[in-house]
Amino acid sequence: MSPKPKFQAIKGTRDLLPPETELWNRVEETARAVFGTFGFGEIRVPVFEPTELFARAVGGETDIVSKEMYTFSDQPQEKTESGPSSAATRHSPLATSVSLRPEATASVCRAYIEHNMNQWPQPVKLYYMGPMFRRERPQKGRYRQFYQIGAEVLGGTDAPAIDAEVIEMVMTFFSRLGLKGVQLNVNSIGCRNCRPQYVELLRAELQKVKDKLGADSQRRIDTNPLRVLDSKLESEQPIIEKLPRIGVHLCAECAAHYAAVKRQLELRGVLYRENWRLVRGLDYYMRTTFEITAAGLGSQNAVCGGGRYDGLVELLGGPPTKGIGFAIGEDRLILSLQESGKEPVAQGRDVYIAWMGEHAHATAIRAAKDLRNAGFRVELPPVEQKFGKALGHADKLGAKFALILGDNEVSSGEWTLKTLADGSQQKFTEPQLLEFLRKQTTVSS
Ligand code: HAM
Repeated sequence: MSPKPKFQAIKGTRDLLPPETELWNRVEETARAVFGTFGFGEIRVPVFEPTELFARAVGGETDIVSKEMYTFSDQPQEKTESGPSSAATRHSPLATSVSLRPEATASVCRAYIEHNMNQWPQPVKLYYMGPMFRRERPQKGRYRQFYQIGAEVLGGTDAPAIDAEVIEMVMTFFSRLGLKGVQLNVNSIGCRNCRPQYVELLRAELQKVKDKLGADSQRRIDTNPLRVLDSKLESEQPIIEKLPRIGVHLCAECAAHYAAVKRQLELRGVLYRENWRLVRGLDYYMRTTFEITAAGLGSQNAVCGGGRYDGLVELLGGPPTKGIGFAIGEDRLILSLQESGKEPVAQGRDVYIAWMGEHAHATAIRAAKDLRNAGFRVELPPVEQKFGKALGHADKLGAKFALILGDNEVSSGEWTLKTLADGSQQKFTEPQLLEFLRKQTTVSS
């Protein structure tokens, strides 16, 4: 057995390599295209922010903030006589606690306030993609550095058509990708007028069955009883099924809003399943919540989560603002696509240029430039190789054609093109070659 390399990716992080990265790129390109058709523009926010931003937005009691964030103390770079790394600056009382972002909704809301986006035409529709960081126990579909593709609609009204359109957009994206086994779950978790009463009722009911619950749920009776509904513990399922359901405790406004969201989904032909236990693990949600699961993911099967969060911008110091959005777990989306055989075939080269001789090298360099400018994937070996070896290499790289350039070809201006699949050969001048390749790739793509 060969010895382990000295350095390895940190637990819960991983390298994404070709050809898999082609699938990642295709997914991201499709997201940009689909979200663009719904009028969304891209926002890029920093990967770290003040810890306080996440504590306030996501909630100090949530698992994400209380135990999963990568937090460190950031020293201000003050100039002192002895330089920026002196003891005086290292222990500056001005040091701030910063955290790697565990999600991006908080940052997008911070940016909305910071850039006075409430002055833009409302609502502001933004999407983002990039890495997020949570110190979770790694397993299939769960990483410490993972990737999200998300979108947020901020400002304007809380019209149910907005909730439905946001959901329609994710579903359109998934269907464009050919994602299998997509199941949309929706719920309403009420607002600050009706939810507190329901939470109290739930707490009281949970107290009655406390002894039958596991340790996590017992703790949550005090900290966040709604999260008990999330429990996957087998023994708790029959108990949870008998608990009071939020649907019948919504205030009139929330009930009307929820009914209208469902109607709007139906108008759009979006199939959904109601799931009264869908409460989500972040504090900022109110009213509409949703989660989407997909095939082939095992226990970590939520491929997208989202919901409405009116009031979050205000909580972060901005004006009263409506908000709704979602984030897709891109790692899980990719896993699901791979499980259902949507992997891209390794994209080989279109043309491998097998050249021999100094004159041929000059011609090969020019030919490579022309072919690449025309959009073909070209491999140009940097050193001379015997034709036999070159063709073997071309085969390994999955090239479709080998362009053979030796002294004869250069002097006659007639180039030999070998089709690697069947070994057939044809002669072309350079313009004829471009014409032929163009036709071939249009036919095969
Ligand atoms: P979330 O449910 O925490 O929501 O995450 C959204 C999705 O990110 C999950 O459904 C899952 O697919 C993926 N995900 C979460 N944690 C991990 C992990 N450790 N490894 C792999 N994938 C993971 C949010 O983050 C909200 N900001 C969504 C949102 C946007 N709500 C409104 N706007």
